[in-house]
Parts: sequence; structure tokens; C-alpha cells
Amino acid sequence: MKQFTSVADVPNVSNLIEDVLRIKGTQDREFGKHKNLTMLFFNPSLRTRMSTQKAAQNLGMDVSVLDSGQGWKLETEPGAIMNGDAQEHICDAIKVMSSYTDVLAVRSFPTLTDKEADYNETLLKAVIASSQVPVLSLESATRHPLQSLTDMATIVESGIRKPKIAVTWAPHPKCLPQAVVNSFLEWSAFLDADVWLTHPPGYELDAPFTQHATVTHNQLEALEDADFVYCKNWSSVTHYGQRLEGYDDWMVDTMKMSRTKQGKFMHCLPVRRNVVATDAVIDSSIVYEQAANRVWAAQAVLQQLLKA
Ligand code: CP
Repeated sequence: MKQFTSVADVPNVSNLIEDVLRIKGTQDREFGKHKNLTMLFFNPSLRTRMSTQKAAQNLGMDVSVLDSGQGWKLETEPGAIMNGDAQEHICDAIKVMSSYTDVLAVRSFPTLTDKEADYNETLLKAVIASSQVPVLSLESATRHPLQSLTDMATIVESGIRKPKIAVTWAPHPKCLPQAVVNSFLEWSAFLDADVWLTHPPGYELDAPFTQHATVTHNQLEALEDADFVYCKNWSSVTHYGQRLEGYDDWMVDTMKMSRTKQGKFMHCLPVRRNVVATDAVIDSSIVYEQAANRVWAAQAVLQQLLKA
């Protein structure tokens, strides 16, 4: 695998999911010995940062971590006249960084104001264009492939055959990206699963992401007999990046979960308790198992990238 930025980069999705579960709990410190992983963050992260670092260490890799914006600001605009705050252009920084490392990982978020730039993945493409080594996405403007690989492995690990998966929008006080849900829908098309997507009017996703799902504005219809409830907020695509008023009653609670087939509640975390879902739902969920699986997904991907 030459890069890992979306499911389209993966030659065999089922094999990669199996890899995640096969290597779970293992280390191979010889595999990545004398190799370096560099992680560049344009946005904060707890799970992606720690799990990818742990995965690299399990393979014996050294890890370098840089946070852009904390005293070191990168210009990302092509052709920019750099007379502002940014000291260095991303094209120069990435060329230099990739000469020091074996895998370059980058976490960026969407602007949520410029849909064209976000959906063109301008920043990620700039990184790929300047990197001399494989690029690993730690979440981009429109996708979060490491999260989705983890989610698929967690679902397969449950052993439930042909599951019904209800992907539901939930309320949130801030405008959030569409990356997690976009990516989940792309990856879940490779599972033998019945995928439903439910959200209030105005929260439609871009059509290419929803083509394999049954879409409804009726949350209870989607949750009915579901084996998994995948819950996530995202901001509007049609009113790009906006938070539409209302819909607080879309929070997932035990009454809604009782409509499922003893459904397992999933969320990528971080989660706003008693806004997105109630304490009772989160406390009886599989979100911590899901988060723990982030290590094994990252480890499987790093192994593939080091083989490239
Ligand atoms: N789920 C996830 O990507 O979490 P972080 O933002 O903490 O990395």
C-alpha cells in the first residue's frame, strides 16, 4: 500500500480488516526497527495521536510529533505572498520532513467555510505532492480512514453476521466535520451489512458517500432491530458547515436503544455526554473497545506502508 488516505488506497479491504484482528495484542519490534514515523498535527487529537504512536512503538519505530500552529505556523495556500504570520510554506516543510522519515502522517480538519477546498482535500493533496515517503492520513477534511478501519474491525470482531447498522446523526453544540460519517459509509460498503443512515432534514451528506445506505429522516425506523448504532454529529453540507437550530431530541437514549436488537452503541469519541447520547447509553456501549482497537488498526496500516 503506497499511501493510506481513504478506502480507495486499500488493495483488499477484507484482508486489511482481518490483519487488524490477527495482530491484535501483538508486537513486532523488529519489523520497524530503524524506521521513523513523523506525525504532523494541524488539529488536536487524543486517540489518533496516542494510538498511532503506540502502534509505531509496537513495531519498533521511532516517532516524531509536530504540532503546527504552536509557535510554528505553516502557510498552506499555493502561491501565497508570505508576509503574514507563517514562517514556512507547507511544500518546503513536507519536502524536508519526508527526508527525515519513512512514513509521514498528517491530521487536518476542514475549514467548514470553503466546501470546495475541503472536498478537494487541498491540504492533504499538498502534503502528498511534496512528500517523498508514504503518507498516512490521521483524518483529513472529508475522511477519517484509521477511525473507519477500526470501526469495521470492531464490527467484524463482534461475530454478528449480516448486521443491521444504523448510522445516526446526533446533536452537538459546535459545528463538526463530516469526515467520520463519510468515511464510515465508504468503508461499511465493504461489509456484508445492511447500513441505514438517519439524520434530520438539512444534514444530507454528499451523494457519493450515501449510495450504499438506506437513508431516512425517521431515526426510530433506522434504529429498529439494529445490531449496531453508530452515532455521530456532523454539520450541514447543504448549508455548509452550519449548525441548524433544533433537533436536540435526536440525542440517543435508552428508550431509543430499546428499539434495537440489543444493539451495540458506537462512537468515535470524544463524545458530549447527555447531548449526543445519555450517560446510560455510553456507559453500556462498546466505545472503549472501539477506541482500544485504534492501536491495532494503525499497526496493521503502518506494516502495509513500511512494506511499500
Ligand atoms: N476519534 C478520534 O479521532 O479522536 P481524536 O480526535 O482524539 O484523535
